[in-house]
Amino acid sequence: MQKFIITGGSRLSGELTLQGSKNSILPIMAAALLGEGRSVLRNCPMLTDVFSASRILGGLGCRCTFSDGAAVIDPCGASGSEIPEELMREMRSSIMFMGAILGRMGECTFSVPGGCELGPRPIDMHLAAMRKMGADISDSGGRIYCRIAGGRAHGAKINLPFPSVGATENIILCAVCADGETIINNAAREPEICDLCSFLRKRGAEIKGDGGGTIVICGTEKLRGCEHIVMPDRIAGATYLSMTAAAGGEIILKNACVAEMEPFLSVLEQTGCRIYTAENRIYLRSGARLRAIRERIRTMPHPGFPTDAQAVLMAALAVADGASVFEENIFDCRYRHTDALNKMGADIEVLGKVAVVRGVAGLHGADINATDLRGGAAMAAAALAAEGTTCLSGISHIDRGYEKFEETVSCLGGKIRRV
Ligand code: UD1
Repeated sequence: MQKFIITGGSRLSGELTLQGSKNSILPIMAAALLGEGRSVLRNCPMLTDVFSASRILGGLGCRCTFSDGAAVIDPCGASGSEIPEELMREMRSSIMFMGAILGRMGECTFSVPGGCELGPRPIDMHLAAMRKMGADISDSGGRIYCRIAGGRAHGAKINLPFPSVGATENIILCAVCADGETIINNAAREPEICDLCSFLRKRGAEIKGDGGGTIVICGTEKLRGCEHIVMPDRIAGATYLSMTAAAGGEIILKNACVAEMEPFLSVLEQTGCRIYTAENRIYLRSGARLRAIRERIRTMPHPGFPTDAQAVLMAALAVADGASVFEENIFDCRYRHTDALNKMGADIEVLGKVAVVRGVAGLHGADINATDLRGGAAMAAAALAAEGTTCLSGISHIDRGYEKFEETVSCLGGKIRRV
């Protein structure tokens, strides 16, 4: 099991070019399964989750190769309809492939995505939507069997009880090749959904309204190949900015999606960090001690404050002057990083969905274990701001979402090595 050894206390400075978005490329890889023709996905982040998605595609009979920072996917040999249990276990977002497999094959078999590090993550909305589009769904021995009589889904009007990102994506993936029109009400508005739709439109799909609460998809017989540049990763951006805010220093993020990061930037700015944006660049300088955030930080669906940035911002606020309060409204169990931060000297109290972060003058190194992807990144940020050395294990979580994490941090002057 690999670990990061991180010695804190150095200011971070320099420029970095943001990786492509993990949450964008995963549904886009699923979408590449549909129709005919090769998809060339540029700005593809090289992440373990992307390699898991590639293994799913390979198992279905697609060709998926990587070269020069691009993933090339050719679905012409695709004939399978099953996602193996071990790949469902490896990456919960394998569920994303359900809509595309059903759309292409008219049937799909996969496993119940087990409990995960963020608490129970049910898939009831995904399944209810697929039923509305014509799927007959049964389960036995932990496997779920979806079949569409006649092999082709039909359009439907779907009202989501909550704007679930994954359910919205799965419906879009199933609807683009379905018979007729699908309307999704209360759809998620995350920028990654717009990126998926823009990719599908390039391939010939008819989709309107993405980025708003109602998405209308008109099913089509054929989708062609295309080239697409995956959008930048706004959560990786939030991570490197929070890290610099915590450790002190100044960085420039290049290839950043400034407008999409606004809900995060507007909160980070309140800590007293200097932030300037221009086109696709974000400059941040963190000098004096950070200020606590006065207003409660409530995680909400986009364009609210992103749940994925909650942990990394918390690491910075752990050393701010004063108390900040978080309210986690998306996941039930998303404060597991707080035990490790407290072990490093932070003063964080969790009361249900609320976390009270009383800023301390400094953190110290400790032996800690990454509990999940963003929690692990938060621990690394705290370690860079701390006095002394931290041994961070469980870093396979970090490798799921951050491309060349230690190289990026080292380039900024952070002392980190993988052992
Ligand atoms: C996606 C992101 C994840 C992000 C999350 C919220 C990817 C690969 N992952 O996850 O990084 O944190 O959006 O922005 O893009 N829910 C149900 N039933 C369902 C589906 C969801 O109850 O059928 C609940 C979940 O348990 C959770 C909430 O809805 O409490 C939001 O989940 P959802 O938006 O679906 O998140 P994911 O798509 O899993």
